[in-house]
Amino acid sequence: MWLSLFESEGGSGLALREQVCAALRRAMRSGALSLGERLPSTRVLARDLSLSRVTVEAAYGQLAIEGYLRRNVGKGSFVAIDLGAGAQSPIAPPHRSPGATTPFSQRGRRLLETGGCMEPMRLQAFAAGSPDLRAFPVALWRRVLNRRLRLDAEQLMRYGDPQGRPDLRAAISGYLAHSRGVRCHPGQVLVLTSSQQCLQLLAQMLLDDGDVVWMEDPGYGGARVVFAAAGARVVNLPVDAEGARHDDTMPTPRLIYLTPAHQFPTGQTLSLARRRQLIAYARRTGAYLVEDDYDSEFQYDGRAMPALQSLDEEGRVIYIGSFSKTLFPSLRLAYTVLPEDMVQPLLVARSAFDGHSSQLMQAVTADFIAQGHFAAHLRLMRQLYRSRRDCLLDALHTNLPWAQPLHSAGGLQLSVRLPEGSEADLTRRAARLGIATPSLSALHHEAAKVDGWRLGFAALRPEDITAAIKSLATLRQL
Ligand SMILES: Cc1ncc(COP(=O)(O)O)c(C=O)c1O
Repeated sequence: MWLSLFESEGGSGLALREQVCAALRRAMRSGALSLGERLPSTRVLARDLSLSRVTVEAAYGQLAIEGYLRRNVGKGSFVAIDLGAGAQSPIAPPHRSPGATTPFSQRGRRLLETGGCMEPMRLQAFAAGSPDLRAFPVALWRRVLNRRLRLDAEQLMRYGDPQGRPDLRAAISGYLAHSRGVRCHPGQVLVLTSSQQCLQLLAQMLLDDGDVVWMEDPGYGGARVVFAAAGARVVNLPVDAEGARHDDTMPTPRLIYLTPAHQFPTGQTLSLARRRQLIAYARRTGAYLVEDDYDSEFQYDGRAMPALQSLDEEGRVIYIGSFSKTLFPSLRLAYTVLPEDMVQPLLVARSAFDGHSSQLMQAVTADFIAQGHFAAHLRLMRQLYRSRRDCLLDALHTNLPWAQPLHSAGGLQLSVRLPEGSEADLTRRAARLGIATPSLSALHHEAAKVDGWRLGFAALRPEDITAAIKSLATLRQL
């Protein structure tokens, strides 16, 4: 049976490791391999396919990182995902050749070439970016939800306002004014499914082919994907001790994408002086600053600096926030605060994209905020994640002296620097232990690559953090 799974991959032009990955992914999608099934050992499969064991090992490691496989030391590798009939398939991984047979549009091909962006779908040390869903107050959420259904079921099942429900927009603007100093009224808020959708909307409405976008380097892959797919020319801003640095000789951008509160992935805060310079620059040139405030709620050593938007007198800043980390990712609710004159046009565009976000989830979220549960939940999660951040720092200090933490004042993940040239090998070997260690170097473009990892810690129990770090400690002794 095993050999038949690999029959059609030969001659596909893909590297051997990728051929193995592709065959196994296909087998999982077709149902030939099902959830929980044990794969042959790398030694046996390598022998049967006449491949080197390193190649098969690398393929299994890759599939484990993608969430397809679970690897238990001493027990073997098991299918970790249910892709049988009716189950949803994850998007193609980045390195597959785009549109080999279907004649996709140029725009479609450009998008495929970016590889898309996929978030980890299951809990694993140290998959980055997930809040702790075990700590989510499900019973409370259910109560709020049931009440809404009792009161408004019929209304909530109708088509809704593309801008978002007024009650949720009022709750968001109140929250942002209070916690982030954002200057806005509910009429400037547009409710969306995700920050990603907001970036897509902005790219669609503000960028023509070849337009310049400035981005932090290293920077957030999700944003880079959107700008590249839009045909924009990305100009990389180096990041130093004050955050992103520009100079006026760089090509003039239409958009400047920034993560000012907690630079992704270094954790650096954009200094006040740089904020002022960037706003002055945007005013002078007509560029827009896109402020992705993705995790400023989670600051552990004091409060986050107020939003960049709070310094903006002339409507040059587009603010983006998301409930993916503060509530839960599958809620699919995010928001943007727009300069006044952009609201109506973006609302029209949004209506053409996907209409609106779920009315029911918007109503529940609005109540959750208005009744004070959101603020309470954030307070609790901040404490919980702070203790986990401390636990991770301790474990690193004690067991992994070769992994140097970068800024650790906030966020759900912590970037660490590894000895130069060691990332690829350590990552491969960590994957063999079943530990995901998302790459830091892959987020560098023109900037000198820093070998390192982005360790997601917020969703992990302290004992799991410590155990996983102790396992990683063995990598430099093997
Ligand atoms: C910088 C940054 N922005 C946005 C997001 C995702 O937000 P959303 O789920 O709303 O697209 C992430 C997710 O990890 C992120 O790291």
